[in-house]
Amino acid sequence: VISIRAPRPDELERLRDIEWAAGAMFIDVGLGHIAEHEPASVETLADYVAADAAYVIVVDDQVVGYSVTDMVDGTMHLEQLSVHPDHGRRGLGAALLEHVCDEARRGGFHDVTLTTFRDVAWNGPFYARHGFVVMTDDEIGPELRELRDHEAAAGLDPDLRACMRRALG
Ligand SMILES: CC(C)(COP(=O)(O)OP(=O)(O)OC[C@H]1O[C@@H](n2cnc3c(N)ncnc32)[C@H](O)[C@@H]1OP(=O)(O)O)[C@@H](O)C(=O)NCCC(=O)NCCS
Repeated sequence: VISIRAPRPDELERLRDIEWAAGAMFIDVGLGHIAEHEPASVETLADYVAADAAYVIVVDDQVVGYSVTDMVDGTMHLEQLSVHPDHGRRGLGAALLEHVCDEARRGGFHDVTLTTFRDVAWNGPFYARHGFVVMTDDEIGPELRELRDHEAAAGLDPDLRACMRRALG
């Protein structure tokens, strides 16, 4: 049985474990520094829950993935989407992504944005398969631009990153 719902407070530490495990996927593609990136704190995750901006995907009572969203340039921005690799490649990431987009549509938003690695299979190409398109420079709003600059300052090579957007029909 698969369900998607808000995380409970006692599950937030599990989300950090998922993030560490999902991050390790980047070691295989020469982006080991991503794997070392500290996941969001329990406090930060609790803030997302309080803002109704976090979801978990649960399989047979086990939390195996999560998403958190922000408001960026007045639109819904997918800040993080992670599925534990032990449960990867079964469509759970896609299901969570669809849920986020459905909620954004219900909330009256016209699109969802994100930043990701352009060429890593489970990043840019994965999102492209789910209707996301790389944004051109002039389409990138001031807050998203700031976020991108912040990522670059944190050591993410901007040439490898893309801002993507999915229009919600
Ligand atoms: C992105 C992510 C959430 C996808 O979760 P998922 O449950 O595996 O998603 P799906 O099963 O719907 O689709 C995964 C697709 O990604 C690609 N993919 C995933 N793992 C892969 C791997 N090890 N090698 C190559 N392609 C891979 C494939 O295209 C795969 O589809 P396929 O299995 O039909 O070939 C998950 O891979 C993850 O947590 N990654 C690390 C964190 C991350 O990069 N998050 C997104 C950017 S913030």
